[in-house]
Amino acid sequence: MAAKEVGAKLKHKFEMPRRISPLHDAFHHITSRTDKTDTLDVKYINAVKGRGVFAKRTISKGQFVAEYRGDMIDDAEYQRRRSLYHPMCAAFMFAFKWRGKTWCIDASQEDESFGRLVNDEHRGPNCRIKRIDVNGKPHLCLFAVDDIKQGEEITYDYGGEDCPWRTQMTSPTVSGVALDGSCPFLSANQTFDAAGPSDSQQMTSTTAHDMTSGC
Ligand SMILES: C[S@@+](CC[C@H](N)C(=O)[O-])C[C@H]1O[C@@H](n2cnc3c(N)ncnc32)[C@H](O)[C@@H]1O
Repeated sequence: MAAKEVGAKLKHKFEMPRRISPLHDAFHHITSRTDKTDTLDVKYINAVKGRGVFAKRTISKGQFVAEYRGDMIDDAEYQRRRSLYHPMCAAFMFAFKWRGKTWCIDASQEDESFGRLVNDEHRGPNCRIKRIDVNGKPHLCLFAVDDIKQGEEITYDYGGEDCPWRTQMTSPTVSGVALDGSCPFLSANQTFDAAGPSDSQQMTSTTAHDMTSGC
């Protein structure tokens, strides 16, 4: 093969978008503390639901979507903050079990991250939370459980039985919104059990399950 041809082939190879596994994609976004701004958008839906996260392009089943980012705190600090917070802020506390203890990701700070703005859907969610351990620390990540179409809202099941909005009607208004304001919504404590042994590996993945108290 002529040198010119080899050069063209190599150029093509390096210009091709590289496919990375969902786990490595999650790892990348966890460690760089970034969101998929090319894939996701935040929009205001209505006064009941507030904002939501939407797919800007098709997302394939199994892909990493977003991390539920925030402050990781232990149970004592979780209880302390919960007693101090307005219910609107407590709505952003995500409690879970890890290594036999209760922990919480407190996402009450408006930090412009997407994971904290993903709404609940218990009948047909298109994502689910999995725990990814990076450098011995758990991270709660959303992965697509179905192919998600462009324009579709990103959702997962918060768990529990008593989310008030599940029995209320909402209007379907959707429009763009800026990410500002602070803790604008109702009380919702999502608790799920991501218990199980976890070594201090560089990167492990465990499916989070048994969301219990919810909402
Ligand atoms: C973690 S926040 C999600 C982001 C929130 N929509 C916002 O704009 O900040 C959880 C709150 O969103 C609202 N929410 C979540 N899922 C909902 C749903 N399916 N219907 C109505 N409201 C929902 C509830 O007020 C809940 O307390």
